[in-house]
Amino acid sequence: MSVKKNYDQWAATYDSNENKTRDLDKLVSQQTLRKYDFNSVLEIGCGTGKNTKWLMTHCSRLLGVDFSKKMLQYAQEKIIDPRVRFMQADISKPWQFTDEKFDLISCNLILEHIQDIHFIFQQAASKLNNNGLFFISEYHPFRQYLGKQARFEIDGATIMIDSHVHHISEFFDAGKENGFELLEIREWFDEIEDNNDKTPRILSLVLKNVK
Ligand SMILES: C[S@@+](CC[C@H](N)C(=O)[O-])C[C@H]1O[C@@H](n2cnc3c(N)ncnc32)[C@H](O)[C@@H]1O
Repeated sequence: MSVKKNYDQWAATYDSNENKTRDLDKLVSQQTLRKYDFNSVLEIGCGTGKNTKWLMTHCSRLLGVDFSKKMLQYAQEKIIDPRVRFMQADISKPWQFTDEKFDLISCNLILEHIQDIHFIFQQAASKLNNNGLFFISEYHPFRQYLGKQARFEIDGATIMIDSHVHHISEFFDAGKENGFELLEIREWFDEIEDNNDKTPRILSLVLKNVK
């Protein structure tokens, strides 16, 4: 089944299922982004709006984009605010969904589903203001090396969503080739007390558009 159909299926329980990656990503995003200033935000793969809720309180304009109609429906039900607009679009195709430029592009838990991340970095560079920020918070590739990937339960069955491994060097190369300066790179782990597994869960990067 396609990634899009999988997220349409997952949408109803995405916010309520137990999901350590989703919860840690929320913390990572807030802890990282509160150090920066931005007025306008493009959130790619915004899903049900988990991060939109916090981001919109730190900017005056936010565009959330996702290709899953169902995930977007939940976001639109939760968030009715003049600062926020949502659009349905596939970010693996040229980003013709807007002519605007932004101070921040936020990308959370989506690149795992994208085959060509160089293309995403190229498109992101074209939609950022000078010195704009590209924030990435993704499922850590070290976990993928252990065979883990995005999954959810439905009617007692476990559905594995198609994913691609992107090595840390790939993020670095894609950034360099598209005129980004790396400001931060960080590994994030589960809480120590419920964790015997020392493999990081999330990889985060903050890149600055200096082209
Ligand atoms: C794991 S969810 C993350 C949602 C949200 N960013 C969060 O952190 O909770 C991944 C999201 O990426 C979206 N997605 C995956 N591939 C996409 C694509 N090619 N274009 C647009 N959205 C995509 C899915 O529909 C889903 O909503």
